[in-house]
Amino acid sequence: MAHAHHHIALIPGDGIGPEVLPPAQQVLAAVGARHGFGFSYTSYDDWSCERYLREGAMMPADALDQLRDKDAILLGAVGHPSVPDHVSLWGLLIPIRRGFRQYVNLRPIRVFDGVESPVRGAVPGKVDLVVVRENVEGEYSEIGGRLHCGFPSEMAVQEAVFTRAGVTRVLDYAFELAARRDGRLTSATKSNGIVHTLPFWDELVAERGTGYPQVAWDQEHIDALAAKFVLDPARFDVVVASNLFGDILSDLAAAVAGSIGIAPSANLNPEREFPSMFEPVHGSAPDIAGRGIANPLGAIWSAALMLDHLGHPAAAEDITDAIAAVLAKTDVRTPDLGGSATTTEFTEKLLELL
Ligand code: NAI
Ligand code: MG
Repeated sequence: MAHAHHHIALIPGDGIGPEVLPPAQQVLAAVGARHGFGFSYTSYDDWSCERYLREGAMMPADALDQLRDKDAILLGAVGHPSVPDHVSLWGLLIPIRRGFRQYVNLRPIRVFDGVESPVRGAVPGKVDLVVVRENVEGEYSEIGGRLHCGFPSEMAVQEAVFTRAGVTRVLDYAFELAARRDGRLTSATKSNGIVHTLPFWDELVAERGTGYPQVAWDQEHIDALAAKFVLDPARFDVVVASNLFGDILSDLAAAVAGSIGIAPSANLNPEREFPSMFEPVHGSAPDIAGRGIANPLGAIWSAALMLDHLGHPAAAEDITDAIAAVLAKTDVRTPDLGGSATTTEFTEKLLELL
């Protein structure tokens, strides 16, 4: 059998971003050696806030062309206190997500044995859900503007944009995922209050649902759903949501799971016309950057999502099993999880168990 080889673009970014990608690469090398595939990397080390302060741009004008031929993108985090957050986000992450039509943002959430959840009902092994967030339209649209700037009548308008094509494709992805998993899907809505876009979303859910008779689906208004994520997180399997609702729900769910440092995400172009991008949910954590104590599990789990996408589900499962094992069977962990280990020590222990 030919030795599969993947060419990966690395964007370490800012803060702890560059601290959590090397552990992910170590884990990838280890499972690759076992399962018979390898990686080469091109690292875009200066695509960051530092570059923005120097050159006025987070990344070069031809950035997407440089990434286009890679099999996938692994990103650390971007953001620095000296640069407004909307500049770093819209200067790097959003152009990549939109330019490469990564319209699915996938965020799995599990409560692991050995991680204390702040929520009483979050029982290890019972909470295992995936938030499927629409990633390129909806509430995060570029349509809108400001008028009468500086006058008492100053105003701002931002249009939410829901297209039949855009909603349908993310719903189909979510229904297919639910059919492969537990056969349960919940749609996040607010069609009682937002009377144009979200009834449209609901209609499309009902329409697509008829194509998946094996999936039992329901819908919940986002306010009630947020409460249920806290009160009874184990009841959910696949949750599909618009861009804004999905963003908020997935951070809430990551907090329910016990630490933002563990949560992974995938920005997927399911058609594979363009590379997909994998990144931990957490940001650049300027408060702990440079101290060597960042939790690497979010980046490592994101690398597992990347393996799944590249067609290596067994290797991906080896990684999630090792994450579960290091948390359940050892007390080695970084300070965010109540331990005293460094990023390196935590990674070494995980590699031992892999
Ligand atoms: P954050 O996720 O960077 O940090 C929130 C808190 O969690 C901090 O106390 C931090 O120390 C802790 N934390 C986060 N990741 C951790 C890890 N792996 N190990 C241990 N502790 C961890 O979010 P915050 O503070 O709101 O944002 C900081 C910067 O990151 C901002 O500039 C923001 O725009 C950016 N950001 C970037 C994201 C991305 O690149 N995808 C996502 C979220 C925020
Ligand atoms: Mg968020």
